[in-house]
Amino acid sequence: MSTATAEQLAPAVDAADPVPGFGAQKSREFVEWFLPWLTRGAEELDRAFGEPAVQAELLDAVRSLAVLRESGDEDAFFAQQYLLSRIYALHLQLPSGASAEGSVVLHAVTRRLELDTMAAEDARLDEEVLVGAPEDAEAYVPWLKEVTRAHRAFKHPYYHEFVRNEANPSDLRRYIVQESAVDSRFDDLLALMQLGTSGGAKLEIATNFWDEMGNGDPLQVHTLLFGKIIDSFGISDAELEGGLTAEALLSGNLAVLCCRYRSLFPEAVGFLAMTEWLVPDRFSQVLHAWRRLDLPPAAIVYHDLHIGVDAHHASGWFANVVKPAAADPATRRAMTRGALWRLNSSARYLDHSLAWSR
Ligand SMILES: [Fe+2]
Ligand SMILES: [Fe+2]
Repeated sequence: MSTATAEQLAPAVDAADPVPGFGAQKSREFVEWFLPWLTRGAEELDRAFGEPAVQAELLDAVRSLAVLRESGDEDAFFAQQYLLSRIYALHLQLPSGASAEGSVVLHAVTRRLELDTMAAEDARLDEEVLVGAPEDAEAYVPWLKEVTRAHRAFKHPYYHEFVRNEANPSDLRRYIVQESAVDSRFDDLLALMQLGTSGGAKLEIATNFWDEMGNGDPLQVHTLLFGKIIDSFGISDAELEGGLTAEALLSGNLAVLCCRYRSLFPEAVGFLAMTEWLVPDRFSQVLHAWRRLDLPPAAIVYHDLHIGVDAHHASGWFANVVKPAAADPATRRAMTRGALWRLNSSARYLDHSLAWSR
């Protein structure tokens, strides 16, 4: 099965052209055309597209990606999520040159992509599950765990059959590239998430963050440990930037989206609680595969460590952040929404990975 990745994107065309004509099959060309603007100055981008009619044309083109995606166009889905991931990189990485980070036009483009991405996830929510959350805060966490246990993402065959028993080293290599969308920057997600919080929630995020920092030991910083498995496979930066599928990009983008908006804090709580809670069982399958294939133990420390650490993080999240917030109906619904975004997008990502692998 073929899959869409940025490696197939051709070199950039002249970015001084007006918004190109947009129709079916043009998604990739549109994104190729727009990407060079991200590494020009914000003022330059605002000058070129600030005029209302021109900006409207640009936003219509961005909107077309969502319309095409909903009609089943995989290229448009990939183009939409790749563009959003490159824009998020402006907000999450220190620049090496000019950056459009502060552009007003870019903010409008980003919002269009975010609103379309959220609408697509919301359209996949099961309203019955959303309204089924118990009003009693004590009962909410056990209920959420039951919902998760009944979800397709839980003990998915990609992990429990394919990774555990069938994957070869090159399958694991591909898996690690895709997983880098979230694992390689979990510390920054927590850093974004903690803004504006206080009390038990802030302490829980701080504790979690300090674990990410290896509790002060530079050699135990989690992103560094994740880097060891990347290095063991000889995965290049270009591959990490350009080799992700639309589903992997979406998982990473949803995590950033929840964490960067204060108004989505409850969604982020639900999203990250589910992420942490699902990790130990999933990484146990990766560890099993690693030992089955007799691969170097030094490279699997990240996964081995998180089997214990994330079980601990998940129970901390549930007890100190999720449960206290569950008494408020709107917050409860938003946390469930974020948890379901994670479960649904994870299930689709794993379905896609399984189909690609076999
Ligand atoms: Fe971690
Ligand atoms: Fe964790």
